[in-house]
Amino acid sequence: MRGVTEPLALYIHWPFCAAKCPYCDFNSHVRERVDEARFRAALRRELATEAARVGRRPLASIFFGGGTPSLMAPETVAALIEDARAFFAPAPDLEITLEANPTSVEAAKLRAFRAAGVNRASLGVQSLDETALRFLGRRHDAAQAVAALEAAREIFPRLSFDLIYARPGQEEASWRAELRRALALAADHLSLYQLTIEPGTQFATLHARGAFTLPEGEAAARLYAATAEEAGRFGLRAYEVSNYARPGAESRHNLAYWRYGDYLGIGPGAHQRLLLDGRMLATRRHRAPEEWAARVERDGDGTVEEEVLTPAERAREALLMGLRLAEGVDPARIEARSGLPFAAAVDGAALAALVAEGFLVWRAGRLCATQEGMLRLDAILPLLLR
Ligand SMILES: C[S@@+](CC[C@H](N)C(=O)[O-])C[C@H]1O[C@@H](n2cnc3c(N)ncnc32)[C@H](O)[C@@H]1O
Ligand code: SF4
Repeated sequence: MRGVTEPLALYIHWPFCAAKCPYCDFNSHVRERVDEARFRAALRRELATEAARVGRRPLASIFFGGGTPSLMAPETVAALIEDARAFFAPAPDLEITLEANPTSVEAAKLRAFRAAGVNRASLGVQSLDETALRFLGRRHDAAQAVAALEAAREIFPRLSFDLIYARPGQEEASWRAELRRALALAADHLSLYQLTIEPGTQFATLHARGAFTLPEGEAAARLYAATAEEAGRFGLRAYEVSNYARPGAESRHNLAYWRYGDYLGIGPGAHQRLLLDGRMLATRRHRAPEEWAARVERDGDGTVEEEVLTPAERAREALLMGLRLAEGVDPARIEARSGLPFAAAVDGAALAALVAEGFLVWRAGRLCATQEGMLRLDAILPLLLR
């Protein structure tokens, strides 16, 4: 079966942060002290458990995400990379990304992460504007961010960074200027996210109280269009809703998610999708770090849920992810990964209407979202899916 020979992507979650940012609902926790040896052993054990189950498959990418993986000891990163290389058949150009926060402490560790095998850094810059950095509750200033970026560019063959825009009161002209300064820092990849208010965050409380408002509707759409235009001038193309890259510099790891490939997810709260013996298994780990570790120590993994997805669920997920990509989705790929004919996966009348209204378009046999469509994926998908 096609899915079985596909290369794997491996995600490893480090759930700790130095402080909780007011906008963030990722599975991240602040601890006075982290028992690194314990978490290293638990991550290695869970990886070994999954490797025994899937066998020696080709491995295309590893991604250390968080939380703040740049708080990990480089030895932990090195041990996990070594294990993955031994358990699987690594591609010659294995992509190994680590998310790093640009504080000076973490910047000082970049060289050690490179020595551990990391070949792509993704820096959480968030903004180059001091007021915005304070608003976002970040622990670095703009000068530290630029210094970390410059250091990372010397150390890593590939470099990406994140910015958050569509912030309260942000004008198009000032965002264009900030983005141009960012683009001049010469990363080959950028993740540019519009600020969203996530339930349960400090920003959710403040926003509900009316402490600030966000650009919405037309204003947000203008900022989005300006973003693509500025990135395009520097040769970076929006290959996904929020991700921009020079041709060839796309994140292979994230492409595996969006193309609905197989991926392993190790660590607290990590998700995994795996086609095994023709069944698509959706697996989720316990979110609480200490409880996850205790389960791994007891059972070999920290899984709290594993379900077999139905063909309709598989088709839904594949479309949900695939339409985020500029390249769109290939109906044959949806069929291969879901086991469901494309015509059965989508509502034909809704599809025709969405194409007629200019939200979706067929390009060389692939179904793609237009720029208008990209902005409204959340509204479009429920209409399209049966
Ligand atoms: C796992 S997080 C961050 C990794 C790293 N700990 C950091 O803070 O730099 C990945 C990215 O998601 C983005 N992000 C998180 N919450 C967001 C929100 N509510 N709105 C927009 N972007 C968000 C940020 O740009 C962040 O860098
Ligand atoms: S944005 Fe990054 S540093 Fe801030 S809480 Fe979320 S994961 Fe931690």
